[in-house]
Amino acid sequence: MPDRDAYPVLPGARADKPTLSLGDRLRGRRLRMPWAIPDEAFETPILKTRSLIGDVVFVSDPALVKHVLVDKSANYPKADMELRLFRALFGQGLIGIDGELWRKHRRTMATTFTPASVATYAPAMASASERFADQWRALPEGAVVDVSDAMNALTLTIIARTMFSDDGAAAEPAVAAAMDAAGDLNDINLLDLLPGVAELRMKARIKRYETLFRPLDGEIARMTAAREAAANPPDDLLSRLMAARDAETGAGFTAQEVRDEVVTIFLAGHETTATAMTWIWYLLARQPAEAARLREELDAVLGGRTPSGDDLPRLPYARRFVDEALRILPPTPGISSRVAAQADELGGVPIPKGAYMVVLPWLTNRSPLTWDQPERFDPDRFLPERSEGRHRLASMPFGAGPRVCIGQLLATNEILLILATLAQHFELDLASDAPVELLHNITLRPKGGLPMRVRRRTRTPAAVAAE
Ligand code: HEM
Repeated sequence: MPDRDAYPVLPGARADKPTLSLGDRLRGRRLRMPWAIPDEAFETPILKTRSLIGDVVFVSDPALVKHVLVDKSANYPKADMELRLFRALFGQGLIGIDGELWRKHRRTMATTFTPASVATYAPAMASASERFADQWRALPEGAVVDVSDAMNALTLTIIARTMFSDDGAAAEPAVAAAMDAAGDLNDINLLDLLPGVAELRMKARIKRYETLFRPLDGEIARMTAAREAAANPPDDLLSRLMAARDAETGAGFTAQEVRDEVVTIFLAGHETTATAMTWIWYLLARQPAEAARLREELDAVLGGRTPSGDDLPRLPYARRFVDEALRILPPTPGISSRVAAQADELGGVPIPKGAYMVVLPWLTNRSPLTWDQPERFDPDRFLPERSEGRHRLASMPFGAGPRVCIGQLLATNEILLILATLAQHFELDLASDAPVELLHNITLRPKGGLPMRVRRRTRTPAAVAAE
């Protein structure tokens, strides 16, 4: 069994200045789940435990994860408790629904997230990143910014523009206020699963959640009505959701369904991406050799210009950097628990009906059974020759199976475009030596933000050539 405390965590980390903390601290104990994640869950492909609410099964092995999320997904629906909470937040948006209604919504949404559709959002993403770069250019050299806040603001602008084109700015304050008011969405523990107690706690929460996004309703209704009346509505996510049709039945969304999917995409689609970008800045600062290689590639391919969607396939190292960042620090370290509808067997372990199945990107992405030195940041793990024979789900930051993240391609394109735009022109250092604490509130963010110093890069090849 590997000695987990011997892992170098992130190369370059000094023992006297633990940054992202060491060994155990980064393991299950830092994640807030209804159940504590036992250490053994990291050392075995599957671990069945008993708790107050019955059987809880931790699954780390990618082939077994595939069984639960992909091959036998019909036997492992999302846990009712989590669906109810999400439904209170999002109404009939994809995340909180199940069964036939979910299938209908997913089929209808599918056209909106095809590669061709997602490609059309690239210019809005790149131009929002450029405008954001202007804000950083206006800062005094070495100014300290909270990168977590900054990336949140940028990805909110991007999703608002992708969704509503030029009207996006009008929706941003309402979404930001709702996110602030939402506060701790992860405050779930075993009490939430105990009959009787659970119902009382659930009702109080649902009451609060249901009102959170109401302030957005007027704005969405106004924009929807304007598009219905317009001869040439803008070609954005909102127009596409309104025009989307179920390939099987030909039916479209009702106005309420469009509203619910808009709110879902706003929520699911901005803080996740912001979290990914925040950790990428952290990793760039902590990993000077990898950061230099990334900037060399950006300089060679882009030479200082704004990237376009067509540039992305020509940035293979940036892609590996992002894949490795999403592996080692998955923005959503957990996914909804699944519950066994019928008894099953998994990896030789009998799964009783009603067992809670805990599948975590955090567990699988960092499993020492799958990855050599899992806590080491090494983008070249994702080189094709080093990926041969590795299970497709060895890293699964976007989940898997029919309920895999619908925004996966949009998110990866967005992260690459932000990274390629900003990392060409700026270098960020950590402004504090204090250890970075993790805060798990659906996403996994640095607690209290991530203060970093912003410095302009002066000598890109384009700048040198121009001298
Ligand atoms: C780095 C960014 C992102 C990460 C790490 C991420 C992660 C995930 C994961 C793990 C799931 C599966 C949850 C489960 O099985 O319980 C999921 C679902 C989902 N994601 Fe993302 N996501 C990201 C960005 C986005 C974006 C940009 C959008 C929309 C534009 C989005 C929309 C959704 C939706 C609607 C679902 C629910 C799908 C369904 O149940 O059918 N996500 N996401």
